[in-house]
Amino acid sequence: MIKALNIAKSYRMGKAKLEVLRGVNFAVEKGQFAAIVGASGSGKSTLLHILGALDQPDSGVVYFENEPLNQFKRSRLNRYRNKTVGFVFQFYHLLDELTVLENVLAPAMASVGTIGWIRVKNKMTRRAKGLLEQFGLSERLVHKPYELSGGERQRTALARALINEPALLLADEPTGNLDSKTGHGILEVLSSLNRQGQTIIMVTHDERIAAGANRTIRLVDGKAVG
Ligand SMILES: Nc1ncnc2c1ncn2[C@@H]1O[C@H](COP(=O)(O)OP(=O)(O)O)[C@@H](O)[C@H]1O
Ligand SMILES: [Mg+2]
Repeated sequence: MIKALNIAKSYRMGKAKLEVLRGVNFAVEKGQFAAIVGASGSGKSTLLHILGALDQPDSGVVYFENEPLNQFKRSRLNRYRNKTVGFVFQFYHLLDELTVLENVLAPAMASVGTIGWIRVKNKMTRRAKGLLEQFGLSERLVHKPYELSGGERQRTALARALINEPALLLADEPTGNLDSKTGHGILEVLSSLNRQGQTIIMVTHDERIAAGANRTIRLVDGKAVG
């Protein structure tokens, strides 16, 4: 489904050059749940952002279903970011002014525009409520994110990532800000989604969390192993 070919990325810090990724190669097939593991600072977030087209590599190419992302036109790229891929972040990145339900609907609204929204609003609202119910949040629809626990926030973020039925779910340390029990709850939700067919790439520095995936890719010295 997605393939990284010789991905390199460095950051310039004054005169020094920090080589974060030095030729990363791997492929993830449809239906897999892959964990990318590496120490803090090893380039996991950088790599995940490149896979999600939120950032660009200095060299190398990401292929999605055999098509190179670097050749996507602007509209195709926007569609890739908004629909093809769903993103979950360590710190949730929910909008505090919006309710839980509105947060989940935001990417759906963004993908169709105002006129289109009138047409699909009811259907998407049903879908959002269905996801929130699946994640045990039916009683939280009109809560604001700051009224939720960490685990509830991350489950809301997960519902938001899934609203546009992404082919690929990218999760950057989704359990990183949660206590161990709550973190394993999120991992259980991810595993269950994967069993239903969702392809997932999850980044983590925690081997115990990585063990919940069905495959591990290690980032060591800027390269992928495994
Ligand atoms: N925009 C940036 N400018 C400079 N250095 C950065 C930038 N983003 C990340 N880095 C550095 O690159 C390295 C890898 O970062 P990151 O991909 O966030 O690692 P990880 O997610 O594995 O902890 C770190 O040393 C970080 O400080
Ligand atoms: Mg990171």
